Parts: sequence; structure tokens; C-alpha cells
Amino acid sequence: MSWQMRFWSSTVGKKVVMAVTGIMLVGFVIAHMLGNLQMFLGADAMNGYAAFLKSTGELLWVARAGLFAAAVLHIVSAVQLTLINRAARPTEYAKREPQVSTLASRTLRVGGVILAVFIVYHLGHFTLGTFHPAFSHTGVYGNVIIGFQSVWVVLFYVIAMASLGMHLFHGVWAGFRTLGLQKRSASPIQRSAALWVAIIVWAGFTAIPVAVLLGILN
Ligand code: HEM
Repeated sequence: MSWQMRFWSSTVGKKVVMAVTGIMLVGFVIAHMLGNLQMFLGADAMNGYAAFLKSTGELLWVARAGLFAAAVLHIVSAVQLTLINRAARPTEYAKREPQVSTLASRTLRVGGVILAVFIVYHLGHFTLGTFHPAFSHTGVYGNVIIGFQSVWVVLFYVIAMASLGMHLFHGVWAGFRTLGLQKRSASPIQRSAALWVAIIVWAGFTAIPVAVLLGILN
């Protein structure tokens, strides 16, 4: 067995794959949120930014392939680690009282599923235009404005962004632990860092559909 296969077969190896792919996904999410906030600078800024991304041609496809591979590895290792955990405890505790687990950690898996459904809808909404009433390949600003006219779509995005925030809070914190970067302390700085990443990403994304619905962006 090659060392790569031995690494992947171990629980620690899968956790490291989760942490490293998680870092790549967090990087994308932060960059995407900052890019999207250009909606507040107007149509020219937003459409110019989207046109610039498309002009990078092959580079864009390399980034997309990397992102796709990271997402697949992240999900596959999450599912496998869950199955390994379940196999280690075939019968549930008679009484379960979570001690240090937070709301975020308990909802991590449900949140992950909501996010997976969200991504499929989102690609059809703003990239392929399948679920969009008046999609244009060049007018990204207009796509976002028209795409958020329905209160139901906005509600779905708001729920998905809350799941993303909770997923990031727990995920970033778990990643610090896996990579051995946490300090032994009752309120470690890494926990605050994870909380701030989650709040900033949640607020930055949620602001856009809500601003469209309230007519602040139009
Ligand atoms: C309110 C929140 C969001 C808004 C307004 C938004 C907006 C957009 C828009 C307009 C595009 C198309 C860009 C273009 O064709 O130039 C896009 C693409 C995309 N978004 Fe989002 N997005 C949001 C949240 C998210 C989140 C949370 C994720 C991931 C967790 C995400 C992942 C993606 C991906 C993977 C693409 C495809 C990128 C590509 O073309 O390769 N988005 N988004």
C-alpha cells in the first residue's frame, strides 16, 4: 500500500484531509463574499469584476477544478468519519447529555447537508441560470437583483447562510484542533477567531439578499 493510501485509510489522515480541504473552501468563501460585496458599489463594479473573472480563462477552470476536488474530498472524508464513529459505538448511549458540544457541532452534519443542497440550487440560480426567471450571462448585477425578488428565495438563502455560519464556527475550530494549532486554555483565541470568521462571512453574504428584498439594492 502506498503511503498516500495508508494516510487516507487512517482516521487521522481523513481528519487532516478534512482540515486542509476545509481551509481551501474557507478561502474561497471569504474571497467570494468580498467579491459579492461589490454589489454595493453598483452594477459597473459588479459586472466588471465578473467579466474579469471570466477573462482569466483556463485559470478559472483550474480554480473551479481545485474547488470541486476540495469539496468532494471534504464531503467523502466527513461521511467516512461519521461511519467510523458509528461503527465504534453501535448502540447509542441510553441517556445522552452533550457536555462540551455546542449547538454548532451538533448541527454540523445537518448544516452540511443544507449547504450541499444550497450549492446545487445556487449554481442553477446564478451560474447556469436554470432556476432564474431572466438570466443573463453578462449581467451578473441584474441576475442578483432579479434573483432575490422572491421572499422564499431570500428566506432559503438566509437559512443557508446561517447554516454556513454555524458550519464555519465549528469547522474552523475543529480544524485548528486537528492541525494542532490550538492552545490549552478555557477560552482560546482560536475559538474567538472561528467565531469572528463565521460572523463576518454570515453577515457579508446575508446582507445582499436582504438588501435587495428591502429595496436598498435595486
Ligand atoms: C448571498 C450569498 C451569495 C450570493 C449573492 C452569491 C452570488 C453568486 C453569483 C452572482 C455567482 C455567479 C458569478 C458569475 O457568474 O460571475 C456565484 C457563483 C458561485 N457561488 Fe455564490 N453567492 C452567494 C453565496 C455563496 C456561497 C455561500 C457559496 C459556497 C458555500 C457560493 C458558491 C458559489 C460557487 C461555487 C459559484 C460558481 C463559481 C464559478 O462560476 O465557478 N456562493 N455566486
